[in-house]
Amino acid sequence: MSVEPWTTKYRPRTSKDVAGNKTAIEKLRDWVESWSKGRPSKAAVLLYGPAGVGKTSVTEALARERGWDLVEINASDKRSGDILAKVAGLASTQSTLFSKGRLILLDEVDGINLRADQGAVATILQIIKMTQYPLILTANDPWDPKTRPLREACLQIELKRLGVRDGLPLLRNILNQEGVKANDDALRLILDRDRGDIRSILNDMQLLSSRNRSLTVDDIDLLSGRDRTESIFEVLRIIFNSRTTASARRALSISDVDQEMLFQWIFENAPYQIPKPKELEEAMSALAESDLYFGRIKKTQSWHLLSYALDLMTAGVAIAKQTSLSGWVPMRFPQKISSMSRTRSIRDTRKKAAASIGVRSHVSVRRAQQLYFPLLRFIYEHNPDEYERIAVSLDAKEELDDLLSNEMRPPN
Ligand SMILES: Nc1ncnc2c1ncn2[C@@H]1O[C@H](COP(=O)(O)OP(=O)(O)OP(=O)(O)O)[C@@H](O)[C@H]1O
Ligand SMILES: [Mg+2]
Repeated sequence: MSVEPWTTKYRPRTSKDVAGNKTAIEKLRDWVESWSKGRPSKAAVLLYGPAGVGKTSVTEALARERGWDLVEINASDKRSGDILAKVAGLASTQSTLFSKGRLILLDEVDGINLRADQGAVATILQIIKMTQYPLILTANDPWDPKTRPLREACLQIELKRLGVRDGLPLLRNILNQEGVKANDDALRLILDRDRGDIRSILNDMQLLSSRNRSLTVDDIDLLSGRDRTESIFEVLRIIFNSRTTASARRALSISDVDQEMLFQWIFENAPYQIPKPKELEEAMSALAESDLYFGRIKKTQSWHLLSYALDLMTAGVAIAKQTSLSGWVPMRFPQKISSMSRTRSIRDTRKKAAASIGVRSHVSVRRAQQLYFPLLRFIYEHNPDEYERIAVSLDAKEELDDLLSNEMRPPN
């Protein structure tokens, strides 16, 4: 069973569906419309504000509303340098009479990694200068010094965090469509606690309402809390036996293991700790979604997604498990972690062997691996005596023996 996340299910279709920030959105819409009279003096907007208030959504909605193509790049992506060059092309080509309009979105410019992408800011400035199409840049922190030159080249529009007045009707409407009851005090509390971050609020509410079709202040209250450090086993015990999302999340705060390591522990133990297949399936799909977030965080350095990844792997798993185990089941050590350390030692051995070969044969370590290893493997299999002789003369017998015997072994 896969559940569509509410954040995609209820993504605003039009700019009118974006809650709150009416004046700012009006200003943005006016600026977009002003392009019909020719290129305005500011060809780019810097749309800034806290996470999850609708920056990306409103931009997408504006393009959709007009039937324009949206050229969207995440500026914090690793290879943004290459992509930016392409965007520059798309921005500067004049449209023909029959071609569609175009809106260019450079999302999360404050996430640009200047070390990896030294020229990025200059390239973006260049794009702003020559673009023939409206260009929208988004950022959480408009004061980030590295994006300062961008700020000055743009019309700045701020989206503020959603308060009760705009947030409450939005949440009520979504819960209504989902058939979930919630009292206004609970919604006020969650808006306040999550500082108007609608993405995180929708994730929380979806999680909570998957077990409880009516939300109260108590449920929301349970979402927060932090205290001390505990052993990994205690942490796992708490996660798999939590009856509330709050205590599952608390487990994270008392654990001192690396978060991805903890993910592996949970992933490995879920099948043994969750006896009902249906519940296990739900837990696994929460873990799969969490894994997707971790992937995206790593790829694009979108650290603001971390709390979603963490929530899914703790509270998401806790909520899925409703049925207790009938006896005591020990926790298991994650396979992935043991195999990671195994591949690490193999890699070290490879390097050592290649270095010895390199010294003897006057080639680089990389070349030694490329040229000699396949050959040696062949000789090792077909003529052990000859292999012995060569390995000794290369002064790498110990490493090569270790390596080749390991590589020959089928994975278990
Ligand atoms: N103002 C809003 N009105 C309606 N839904 C919203 C609003 N803001 C956010 N959402 C919901 O939250 C999700 C995420 O919003 P969006 O990606 O637009 O946030 P953002 O401001 O771009 O955040 P970030 O800074 O993290 O990129 C949307 O898909 C939508 O479901
Ligand atoms: Mg965004």
